[in-house]
Amino acid sequence: MAVRIIIGAQWGDEGKGKIVDRLSSDAAYVVRYQGGANAGHTLKFDDTTIVLHLIPSGMFNGDSKCIIGNGVVIDPIALVNEIKKVEALGVDLQNRLFISSSAHLILPYHKVLDNVKEKKRGSDAIGTTGRGIGPAYVSKVSRIGIRMNDLANTEKLEESIKKNLADINLALKNVYNEPELDADVMMSELLPAIEVVKPYIRNTTEILHQALDNGESILLEGAQGSLLDVDHGTYPYVTSSSPTAGGACTGSGIPPMAITHSMGITKAYCTRVGNGPFPTELNDETGEKLRKNGQEFGATTGRPRRCGWLDLVALKYAIRLNGMNELSLTKLDVLDDFDTINVCTHYELDGKLTTVFPLNTDKVSEVKPVYKTFDGWKQSTRNITSFDELPGKTRNYIRFIEEYTGVPFKVVSTGPKRSETIIR
Ligand code: GDP
Ligand code: IMO
Ligand code: MG
Repeated sequence: MAVRIIIGAQWGDEGKGKIVDRLSSDAAYVVRYQGGANAGHTLKFDDTTIVLHLIPSGMFNGDSKCIIGNGVVIDPIALVNEIKKVEALGVDLQNRLFISSSAHLILPYHKVLDNVKEKKRGSDAIGTTGRGIGPAYVSKVSRIGIRMNDLANTEKLEESIKKNLADINLALKNVYNEPELDADVMMSELLPAIEVVKPYIRNTTEILHQALDNGESILLEGAQGSLLDVDHGTYPYVTSSSPTAGGACTGSGIPPMAITHSMGITKAYCTRVGNGPFPTELNDETGEKLRKNGQEFGATTGRPRRCGWLDLVALKYAIRLNGMNELSLTKLDVLDDFDTINVCTHYELDGKLTTVFPLNTDKVSEVKPVYKTFDGWKQSTRNITSFDELPGKTRNYIRFIEEYTGVPFKVVSTGPKRSETIIR
């Protein structure tokens, strides 16, 4: 029995969706535990490409049951669109998709607040996805959130939403100088979506506890990445949830002692969408080339992703935060035509070399990366499915990362398709 957390080791978009889809054939359950439709997880198999935002990436490779855990914030309108998209691919979601009755809803007012707050921040904007994530988690921790549980009683639900909206309208009008929202219009958009979502609601904590009792395998699918974690990331340029390992427990109800594996997903280079420090960022032709080769445009917002070299200081920090005991390396093929490849092994900060990722975000902006340079392998690794078939120079590059981090690569991804994968 494996209970494996799959966590982004960087700033998101590491290829978590691809790896979860590949590994899900052996899992009884695949569980999202935090975040919301800010996530965009891309799956490619046969001739199909699908981007999932809320539904776990375990729907297409085998018959795992998929759980949207209590830690996720769910926009019912986005979820209904996604349910339709998945059903259009021939998947019957009845008895495959379960939504925690304790998960909180993202309501239209959260999205409006997300956007007006970003606008007000001006040049200090975080660069959010605009999906209402921050404001929804604010409602949750300030105990005015609406949970899936609350959908049972429509009258009471309407009353709670209208009460919240009254306060939010005051803020929209007086603080943000923005138009107020009409409660009736909002309810008429919301109620049909809520009806679609209701049949999927369950006590998913109990379902998972039974799965643990029965020794079934579980994959916990992180969204975002360790460096976007609200506690451990580059605050305030972070998301509003805990993608790191602790979040997998609180966001699902699975206890820490039940976790058997913690797998970090890292690209062979780095990307970041939105604002905030990025030590190895390349604002030059090399960065452009990474973006072009890697097709680095956001799966949720379409924004160009910022690109840079692999940062082992940051990777080691993510490994220690999450207790990662295995890694997946993705997008190796993107480096195939580079003459030389850099990997950051140290930071220079205040005139000294360090391998410690600073907790002060201003200091993260100040560090200068120190690189080790590798010769490029200059041949295609695309679609290679056995480690021994990789060019010698590629294997040396991979072994260097393993030695630096002390953690083995269990998976190496050599293309976006499910089949383009080395499992060791
Ligand atoms: P996620 O948010 O971590 O699931 O990652 P995204 O789906 O946002 O971004 C990863 C992108 O890289 C997607 O377009 C994937 O199809 C693609 N991808 C994943 N693994 C590989 C790989 O090994 N090689 C290449 N070239 N593309 C990959
Ligand atoms: P996946 O799961 C990359 C970033 C946003 C922004 C910050 C806060 O696909 O890896 P938010 O909307 O969460 O309040 O935005 O976090 N961000 C992501 N970046 N991948 C993601 O998800 C992200 N989800 C949020 O760009 O910088
Ligand atoms: Mg993504």
